[in-house]
Amino acid sequence: MAWVDSKHAWWSGTAAVDPVLRRLERAAPAPQRRARSRARVMMEREKVRAAFANPREFTTSPLYRRLSRTVAATDRLLGLACLGRPGQYPTFLFFGAVHQLLLAGADHPLAKFYPSVTGDAARPPDSGAGHALVSFCAQFEAELAATIGTRLVQTNHVQRSFGLRLGLSMIAAEVHGAAHLIEVGASAGLNLRFDRYGYHIGGREYGDLSSPVQVEVESYGRARLPDLDALPGIASVLGVDLHPVDVTDPAERAWLEALVWPENHRQRALLGAALELAAADPPPMLAGDAIDVLPGIGVALPAGEPRVVFHCATRMHVPENRREAFDAAIACLGETGPLWWLSVEDAPGVDCRPRPTRLGPILGLRRPGAVAEPIAVVDGHLEWIEMLA
Ligand SMILES: C[S@@+](CC[C@H](N)C(=O)[O-])C[C@H]1O[C@@H](n2cnc3c(N)ncnc32)[C@H](O)[C@@H]1O
Repeated sequence: MAWVDSKHAWWSGTAAVDPVLRRLERAAPAPQRRARSRARVMMEREKVRAAFANPREFTTSPLYRRLSRTVAATDRLLGLACLGRPGQYPTFLFFGAVHQLLLAGADHPLAKFYPSVTGDAARPPDSGAGHALVSFCAQFEAELAATIGTRLVQTNHVQRSFGLRLGLSMIAAEVHGAAHLIEVGASAGLNLRFDRYGYHIGGREYGDLSSPVQVEVESYGRARLPDLDALPGIASVLGVDLHPVDVTDPAERAWLEALVWPENHRQRALLGAALELAAADPPPMLAGDAIDVLPGIGVALPAGEPRVVFHCATRMHVPENRREAFDAAIACLGETGPLWWLSVEDAPGVDCRPRPTRLGPILGLRRPGAVAEPIAVVDGHLEWIEMLA
C-alpha cells in the first residue's frame, strides 16, 4: 500500500466514466438519458463528498482537515467543489480558490483562522471555522465558482526538486553524453532549476549552498544515498504543462501561493524564493497536453542523444481513462534516443519494505529497455525520503 491508497486512487474525475456507459446513454431514449445523466452527476457528487469526508492528504493542515468536514456536510459547498475540470482533485482546488481570495485581502471573519493571513494569532480551527467557511462561500460564490471551474491544481513544491536530483545522481554513471531533461507537468518549472538550489540531507550538503533556495529533506532507513553532486551533464531543459505558469505574472504567482496550505510557512517561503530565482531566468516551457506534444518533442530531439523525463504529482491529475495514453506518450521519447524515466507518483502495491512505518508515493526509475523499479518511498511534498535498498 502506498501514499494515496484509497485516498487518491479512486479519484478519476468525470472524464473517466466508462466509455461503454457513454455509448449506452447516447443510444437510450431521452427520458432515460436524462435519468442516467442525473445519476452520473449524483455519482460524481458522492465521490467529491467522499474526498472531503476523508481528507487524509492534509497531513500538515489541521485547518483544511476541519474545513473538509464542513464541505462534506454542506450541499451548497459541495456544489461549488464539483465544478472542477475532469481529473482535478476537488479538495486542493476548492481550498486553493478560498485561500486565493483570503490572501488577496477578502474582508471576512474566515481570515482569522488562516495562519497564512494572521500568523500566530490564527484562531484554532475548532472555534467556528466551519461556520465562517459557509458564510464566506455564500458571500464569494461567483468568484469561487469562476476559479474552481477554470484553474488547475498546479502546486509547484520546490522541495520536490530533491526527487529529481536524487534520480539524476543515480543514473549519472550510466548516461553517456549530456542529457535532455523534460519535466511533464512542470507547472512553473521550479523543478527544472534544481541545479540552482542547495540540499541538506542526513547531515550532508549538496548543490549551491549560496542559493536563496535551500531544501532540507529528512532521510529514513539504512540504505545509502548516492552522491547528489554527481550528476549527468544537462544539454537542455524543457517543461511541458497544460497551462505553464508564467513566473513573471503576479496573478499566476498568487495562484501558486494559494495552493500552499495555510500552515506551511516554510513551503511558502521556499516557493517565493524559487519564483524570484525563476523569474530572473524562466525555464523554457511548452503549453499542451503531454499526450499530444511529447511525440513531437521526441522527434525534435537530436536522435540518439540521451533524454531524461521526470514527472511528479502529475499523472495523478490525468483522468484515469487517459493515463495509458499519458504513459505511451512518455515512452515515445525513447523511440529516438535512450530514455531514463523518473517519476514521483502514487504507485499502490509497489512499496516492498517488510514493515513500512511511513507511507508515501514512490520515486521510480525506468532505464532504457528495462522495466520500472522503485527507488525510494517519499513524502508527497518530499519532506522525507526512505531509500529502498
Ligand atoms: C500538482 S502540479 C505538480 C507540479 C510539479 N510537477 C511539482 O511537482 O511541483 C501538476 C501539474 O501537471 C499539469 N498537468 C496535468 N495533466 C497534464 C497533462 N496531461 N499534460 C501536461 N501537463 C499536465 C498541471 O497543469 C499541473 O501544473
